[in-house]
Amino acid sequence: MSGTCVIGLQWGDEAKGKLVDLLTTQFEIVVRFLGGANAGHTVVVGDEVYKLHHIPSGILNPKAVNVVTPGVVINPATILKEIDSLTSRNIKVAENLMLSDRAHVVCPWHIAEDRLMDGEPVSGESIGTTLRGIGPCYRDKVGRSFAIRLGDLFRPDFRDKVAKIVSIKRRLLSGLAENSDLSDALNADSICDEYEGYGERLKPYVADTTPFLLDAIDADKRLLFEGAQGALLDIDHGTFPFVTSSNSSGVGVAAGSGVPPRCVDRVIGVAKSYTTRVGGGPFPTEQDNEHGQRIRDLGNEYGTTTGRPRRCGWFDAVAVRYTARLSGVDGMALMMMDVLSQLPEIKICIAYELDGKRIDHFPSHVDDLRRVEPVYETWPGWNVDVTGVRTYADLPADARKYLDRVAELVGRPVDIVSVGPDREQTIFVNE
Ligand code: IMP
Repeated sequence: MSGTCVIGLQWGDEAKGKLVDLLTTQFEIVVRFLGGANAGHTVVVGDEVYKLHHIPSGILNPKAVNVVTPGVVINPATILKEIDSLTSRNIKVAENLMLSDRAHVVCPWHIAEDRLMDGEPVSGESIGTTLRGIGPCYRDKVGRSFAIRLGDLFRPDFRDKVAKIVSIKRRLLSGLAENSDLSDALNADSICDEYEGYGERLKPYVADTTPFLLDAIDADKRLLFEGAQGALLDIDHGTFPFVTSSNSSGVGVAAGSGVPPRCVDRVIGVAKSYTTRVGGGPFPTEQDNEHGQRIRDLGNEYGTTTGRPRRCGWFDAVAVRYTARLSGVDGMALMMMDVLSQLPEIKICIAYELDGKRIDHFPSHVDDLRRVEPVYETWPGWNVDVTGVRTYADLPADARKYLDRVAELVGRPVDIVSVGPDREQTIFVNE
């Protein structure tokens, strides 16, 4: 039994897709266990750029079976577009993709609810969701009565169920939707026609993936679990309420995929060599200034899913130490080192000050996190283009010092360094 998982240690967008794509040749099965179309995983192979939302990045390896498990919320229209786009580029999808019949389905009313509710923040600041209906779909999953799972699309009572949900949603949403037109989002007949059509096309991929994975474990297959979002967006352990609606840290692997926790024997934590965040919420090391803009320009920091400019700032070792411990990380992959190469000096947040006291833990309440002052260490930049470097020894001395310091502060080794988007632009530190 051998399970490895790849977890983002910041607020998402850590370039996990590139890493998963690189590692897949070592695995027979790649598993996506949370989130949905809010994720955008970019994989660059030569001149080709693939943008994936639901489908694991392992799909680019023709030998890996890719499994979307019960913890994922699926937007059928979006996943079909992904399937079509991959197929048109000769990627083998038909034999290599499985979707759990237990996964919940994002319906038009979820997207409408996301739009209505994200604009009504209770605590002053919107979460700034991706507006993909993720939170409302998970809310219905937890609430149970109004939920639709992928397997339901094929049941004889599907149309009845949708009609009942729509009638209740209409009553629930009418107060909030005074000025919004919900007629499309709540038109039971046309939604049923549309979703039955999606169901027809998705049917060949749909299965109960839980016994499939349990059998694979019994047969000693090698499994790679591909995280989405990042641990600081974890619903229970992240910067609540500015989080996503599922467990995006390492603690979510077992629940989302349906495999026992003991099946994961290696955890790779992925972090950028700086920090980004999309959407609202506190971000202690944010540089809302020319430094942040420079990082945004150099790193092309715009959302894959929404195109929103990402907020940018320095590496926060307090936050990453917290998420690395939470996720049980064995070693880290530090991404986008080429971006830092162009900065004259670089800062690392090594601790916070809260109410005049130095702290080195990550506060549990966002109000405290908003008030912390980062304590920085300043490091010289290396001003050398590292995009062609392939070994740790060939990195400039100042870049190596930076990596060593990050590893020391986080308390985990840096095993992999990424110096560009391409597969080849990767340094395996101990090889
Ligand atoms: P939701 O997941 O769409 O509900 O969005 C909740 C929060 O998580 C927002 O701040 C989003 O910007 C953020 N978020 C969700 N998915 C991702 C992702 O894949 N990368 C980065 N941020 C994300």
